[in-house]
Amino acid sequence: MKSTLRVVKTWFVAVAFVVLIIVFWYCSFLFSRLGLRAPALNHSLCHSSWEWESLNFNVSRRTKLFLTLKDFFWHKNTVNLKLPYGITDSEVTLQKTLAGLTDYDMLESTESLSCRRCVVVGNGHSLKNSSLGSVINQYDVVIRLNNAPTRGYEEDVGNKTTMRFFYPESASHNPGTHNQPDTLMVLVPFKHPDLLWLKWILYNEKRVKHGFWRPPPLIWMGKTSQLRVLDPFFMYMTASRLLNIPTSVDPSIKKVVNYVHPTTGILAVYVALNYCNVVHLAGFGYPRADEREQLIHYYGDDTMMSMMASIHNISKEAQALKSLEDSGAILHLRPLSG
Ligand SMILES: *[C@@H]1O[C@H](CO)[C@@H](O)[C@H](O)[C@H]1NC(C)=O
Ligand SMILES: *[C@@H]1O[C@H](CO)[C@@H](O)[C@H](O)[C@H]1NC(C)=O
Ligand SMILES: *[C@@H]1O[C@H](CO)[C@@H](O)[C@H](O)[C@H]1NC(C)=O
Ligand SMILES: *[C@@H]1O[C@H](CO)[C@@H](O)[C@H](O)[C@H]1NC(C)=O
Ligand SMILES: *[C@@H]1O[C@H](CO)[C@@H](O)[C@H](O)[C@H]1NC(C)=O
Repeated sequence: MKSTLRVVKTWFVAVAFVVLIIVFWYCSFLFSRLGLRAPALNHSLCHSSWEWESLNFNVSRRTKLFLTLKDFFWHKNTVNLKLPYGITDSEVTLQKTLAGLTDYDMLESTESLSCRRCVVVGNGHSLKNSSLGSVINQYDVVIRLNNAPTRGYEEDVGNKTTMRFFYPESASHNPGTHNQPDTLMVLVPFKHPDLLWLKWILYNEKRVKHGFWRPPPLIWMGKTSQLRVLDPFFMYMTASRLLNIPTSVDPSIKKVVNYVHPTTGILAVYVALNYCNVVHLAGFGYPRADEREQLIHYYGDDTMMSMMASIHNISKEAQALKSLEDSGAILHLRPLSG
């Protein structure tokens, strides 16, 4: 009788043990499906294989990203072009604007790192349900673009933002909502009115609305200590060396039709290649050109149709990203689930 009881007990323990293991395995399976168990960022990543020289841009690497009032004067003649590639005809406005800033430097916490692991978060629809948020948050530097939201999308895009690249039409009037308190707000000046907009904000001058393709915010509630102006040199190099597109208009051509500028996204990739040791991308890429009803962002309802009239050449940019990927300089993060 006693021994039967012991056998039953042993069996009971064994079965309970097996059930427990199955439950545990199933839970961890569920968690990984939900993206709650994101892989840790590999620390040996910094010994990566690509060298700046192997990218063949024929220009030295620059890790100083922002314009300062101090070096304003020698910048004048480095690239004799108008915005977005040079500062010709914008010198006076630029000088006044830069004088209104209080800081021109990168965050010390980022600057002092011996290895900078960066992720550029594009705004692509592929981020939806990607569960990449906790992976993105692990990078040393997270670069975001334009008015892409984070609040309400943390699971897929994370909530860390080291730098946000924007221009007036893509500025949100309250940057506090989708950034953290020390996020650097980096103005990418595409045209002269973009500098004027910043000057009006900094000096609280009367705003003028023309010169923009969409009304920019008239009130900007961010902290001016976080504002920086990206050196147009990076836009110039993105166009001329990464994309090989014309950067000046041939004066003999009266009507310019195919004059395209790089997107903020490809610009951010070029900047990251300069500044970072590791460059990963998330949420890059567009639907096919004929999929006109396809959503293009992980938020909002812009479709491929809205890209038709754009001044960008996204097929050319896709080619450039592909060759950077092939050379091992960048890596696309893939969705964890779904
Ligand atoms: C980290 O990356 C290195 C080189 O890419 C690789 O050899 C190593 O196995 C990786 N470690 C982990 C834990 O994934
Ligand atoms: C590289 O740039 C230098 C000047 O900066 C120029 O003289 C040279 O022709 C360029 N080389 C190539 C291969 O484009
Ligand atoms: C994302 O997940 C939601 C809920 O599971 C689903 O309704 C939606 O269709 C998914 N979207 C995409 C783009 O996969
Ligand atoms: C991001 O979200 C986590 C979890 O909710 C929170 O602990 C952290 O402070 C947030 N970070 C930022 C920069 O908002
Ligand atoms: C865009 O780039 C492709 C090649 O990558 C080229 O064939 C096409 O003409 C370009 N379009 C414009 C508008 O420049």
